[in-house]
Amino acid sequence: MRFLKHIFDNNRAWAEMMEQQDPQFFQKLAMQQSPEYLWIGCADSRVPANQIMGLMPGEVFVHRNVANVVVHSDLNCLSVIQYAVEVLKVKHIIVCGHYGCGGVSAAMQHKEFGLIDNWLRHLKDIYQRHENELDTIPDDKTRLNHFCEVNVIEQVRNVCHTTIVQGAWRRGQSLAVHGWIYGLTNGLLNDMDVTITSAAELDALYRMGANP
Ligand code: CO
Repeated sequence: MRFLKHIFDNNRAWAEMMEQQDPQFFQKLAMQQSPEYLWIGCADSRVPANQIMGLMPGEVFVHRNVANVVVHSDLNCLSVIQYAVEVLKVKHIIVCGHYGCGGVSAAMQHKEFGLIDNWLRHLKDIYQRHENELDTIPDDKTRLNHFCEVNVIEQVRNVCHTTIVQGAWRRGQSLAVHGWIYGLTNGLLNDMDVTITSAAELDALYRMGANP
């Protein structure tokens, strides 16, 4: 209980394997990180950013929370975005949702879950904005998965609306914000084709998000 030995065994075996592949790997990585990607994804244990994208340590900066929500008053998420954009100068911000998301599903229910209800409120607000469209889908699973997609589009917009991203574009920094969704049942990423690369595109995305 006190020591999770199997984890440390795994870790040593992994570190040895990495050093066998490249003896300088950890030394080089310890000097600096220069990832090109910021991943904003769900905290769900089945959606690990590096593994899904086939990327090594050092290649993606990661922020995860329940249901991949970007709120303009969340200092945690904003700090990650600011560091990624202004210091690391990532070229891509990826908002990645996933089908069958428990957080998104909880927001569609009327149960009380405790503290997290305050977080899920952000999702309920999105549902209400898309209620006319979502309520026409009779099948629960299809409706949930469509809401997962709608949530990604809304969060891409939220990322673009931050002062950090708008500031980067104003400075001429190359920065694309992508919306992806991941399938738990097949392990595949889908690009939702809602990529935004400049402030001029924001109105178009808004129309898509409000009436997809
Ligand atoms: Co989830």
